[in-house]
Amino acid sequence: MLKNEVLKILLSNNIHVSGQDISESLGVSRTAVWKAISTLKKEGYNIESVNNKGYLLLAKSDILNQVEIEQNINSYKLSNAPQIIYLDEVDSTNNYARLMAEKINSDFLVVADKQTLGKGRMGRSWSSPAGVGIFMSLCIKPEMAVEKTSMITLVTAVSLCDAIEELYPINATIKWPNDIVINSKKISGILTEMSSDMDGIKYIISGMGINVNNKEFPDDIKDMASSLLLETGILADRSKLIAAVIYHFYKNMNIFLKTGDMSGLKENYENHLVNIGKDVKILDPKGIYQGVALGIDETGALLVNAEGKIKRIISGEVSV
Ligand code: BTN
Repeated sequence: MLKNEVLKILLSNNIHVSGQDISESLGVSRTAVWKAISTLKKEGYNIESVNNKGYLLLAKSDILNQVEIEQNINSYKLSNAPQIIYLDEVDSTNNYARLMAEKINSDFLVVADKQTLGKGRMGRSWSSPAGVGIFMSLCIKPEMAVEKTSMITLVTAVSLCDAIEELYPINATIKWPNDIVINSKKISGILTEMSSDMDGIKYIISGMGINVNNKEFPDDIKDMASSLLLETGILADRSKLIAAVIYHFYKNMNIFLKTGDMSGLKENYENHLVNIGKDVKILDPKGIYQGVALGIDETGALLVNAEGKIKRIISGEVSV
């Protein structure tokens, strides 16, 4: 798309670039360049046009698109960066990733500005309005046993905390297994889905929803949910946060793959675990336990001291 090519030129120059130079380097007419600039301005880019000098991109605002996401991810110089698929709107990035997983052999990331049918865990929905959040699904194809899939959710949770703490002066915490909580309010959730056959895992989709620049929430979740903007006062560039999450995910995934379990990430995970040392109630499919959370073991199970007995919790919900 010409608009994207023009944007790449503006992003890589901090002096004015003439319409003539842009048209020559892209091999298109000056009218086409002018139209692309108009479209970018309509999308919210603040582009200064000066006679005889050309175009200059002024202070950037939070605009999500393919070019911004790719450029920010490229800045981390990952050796195995995923292919990016950006959509203005989709039912669910997890659903879209499932469709694409059969067609794309490498890792890829589906990002949407808005979801019309965002899915949460346990059949719940995920509020996904346009312009303020991050809704993305990373599809990976690791060679590992099917039973280890749930640990990828924990790897993702640690990575979300690492990324938030890289960009914001705030501590992000994890409510076991994978809710990201700040000041007792949920900021981010993870929905991991996978497909396997006789040979093992075909793909894993790690779906992440992050409340970034939201100023308000629907009535049914407004007491439990918050956003990074509401908790820090900082209006963030979503593309930068997406790139940071992807960088930390691959960094943590490399640590995970060395042992094939959570032992290398246990300390990082427990440093973020909000439940540690606290009374927890486990709503386990087998029953309700009360106890003190001790941490996780190398499989990612929550260890709880329940009346002197150490219980390993492998699924269910924890209420603090
Ligand atoms: C949760 O219930 O905590 C998990 C929420 C996961 C939401 C994300 S948004 C991107 C991806 N697509 C979906 O439909 N769901 C996940």
